Amino acid sequence: MGPQPDFIHQFVPGKSDRTLLLLHGTGGDERDLIPLGHELDSNASLLSPRGKVLENGRPRFFRRLAEGVFDLEDLQKRTHELADFVNSAAKHYQINNKQIIAVGYSNGANIAASMLLLRPGLLSAGLLLRAMVPFVPDKLPNLSSVTVFIGAGTFDPIVPASNTKELAELLRSAGADVTTRFFQSGHELTSDDVDLAREWLTRLQY
Ligand code: MLT
Repeated sequence: MGPQPDFIHQFVPGKSDRTLLLLHGTGGDERDLIPLGHELDSNASLLSPRGKVLENGRPRFFRRLAEGVFDLEDLQKRTHELADFVNSAAKHYQINNKQIIAVGYSNGANIAASMLLLRPGLLSAGLLLRAMVPFVPDKLPNLSSVTVFIGAGTFDPIVPASNTKELAELLRSAGADVTTRFFQSGHELTSDDVDLAREWLTRLQY
């Protein structure tokens, strides 16, 4: 086993080689998405860190200057920090590092998208629920082996549909296989999100 990973987190060992990296929204913690993880794939291991940044006492994965306006320097630093945590947790818990799938909601989905762009090769797939474009990289990574599902809310007051489409295009232009679905909801998740996400995960080849 490697050194103890340095984020507060929960790890739930599973029966398959797949690990869901669960990334909560603003104000959440490492316990939030564990039930969702079990619902999405009852055989997968679950790795669920708590964001280290506090906004009025509420955990997040990176700083923002206002709603939807990100501190890009902090985003970059926190993305690498989280990716390093995933690598050390993979060694520590002896996870198959070729089958790590990010499942992020809101702020967690945004840092998952940032990890796809900044640390290609770490995640084999991403389930991005209510995600935005985290930043536009100068140079696109090669995401040709990555599959992404974007779940958006038609009435989301935080993420406009145009931003969802931009995110899908950005990831597609890097080579990712992207599926986008709009649900009849706002920023909150619905049972339709969970049902479609579960189906999408079941169809993934790895
Ligand atoms: C973010 O800050 O990542 C987004 O505005 C979503 C949120 O956390 O509300």
